[in-house]
Amino acid sequence: MESLKAKGVNAGLAVVIVGDDPASRVYVNNKKKACEYCGIYSEEYALGAETTQEELLCLVDKLNKKEDIHGILVQLPLPKHINEETILNAIDPKKDVDAFHPVNVGKIMIGNFDFLPCTPAGVMELLDDAGIELEGKNCVVIGRSNIVGKPQAMLLLHKNATVTICHSKTKNLKEVCREADVLVVAVGRAKMVDESYIKEGAVVVDVGMDRDENGKLCGDVDFESACKKASWITPVPGGVGPMTIATLMKNAVTAAENTIR
Ligand code: GUN
Repeated sequence: MESLKAKGVNAGLAVVIVGDDPASRVYVNNKKKACEYCGIYSEEYALGAETTQEELLCLVDKLNKKEDIHGILVQLPLPKHINEETILNAIDPKKDVDAFHPVNVGKIMIGNFDFLPCTPAGVMELLDDAGIELEGKNCVVIGRSNIVGKPQAMLLLHKNATVTICHSKTKNLKEVCREADVLVVAVGRAKMVDESYIKEGAVVVDVGMDRDENGKLCGDVDFESACKKASWITPVPGGVGPMTIATLMKNAVTAAENTIR
């Protein structure tokens, strides 16, 4: 950041939100606040739910060419009439701070990347900071999304873990999870995972951002119950969420640095 400023470059991030999904609005506000906190220049583009795919592609094209913008984030999900893949493919891979473009996904697969996807990278940082060794460990990821599950599995594999990806069609889910030394839960179902899924002493990472029956923010893991078995566990809120944003800030700075290399 300081070396960037010395060269007269101020990292710039554009955040695009389409429609009025309340959760997306909260995420985008948090991203904006983090930019202010870190001294990253940010622009927000809030478009109406009726925005066409063509209009959104036009904006992405404009941002691809904009010199003071080094990173572009299009908040997902997009309204149903817009093809997410088409939009993500249109973002310049060099500005793709989410690492969702196929070029960046491919680079991550190979292990030689510019950006890591924000949530999985945030999880890795948390595990590393806690001194949790992954080599040779049984890691189970529940969820196979392109945003979290798949890249999370790949990052764990890069650390020489033995990785299993579980999903809605997995047989004997509980039994598979009970083999995990490290269990990463990214399913999007409030408090789905309780102590019956967890091996004594396991590490549990909760990627969920859900609402419980009273509308209160909670994770995919029933924290109280899981605490009885887990040796280490991340809370919601205040666990993975802030790490996602921290990685986004890091990626925005990297994108800016890469323009002066
Ligand atoms: N929606 C939920 N998580 C994410 C994310 O990491 N990036 C974007 N662009 N949209 C999301």
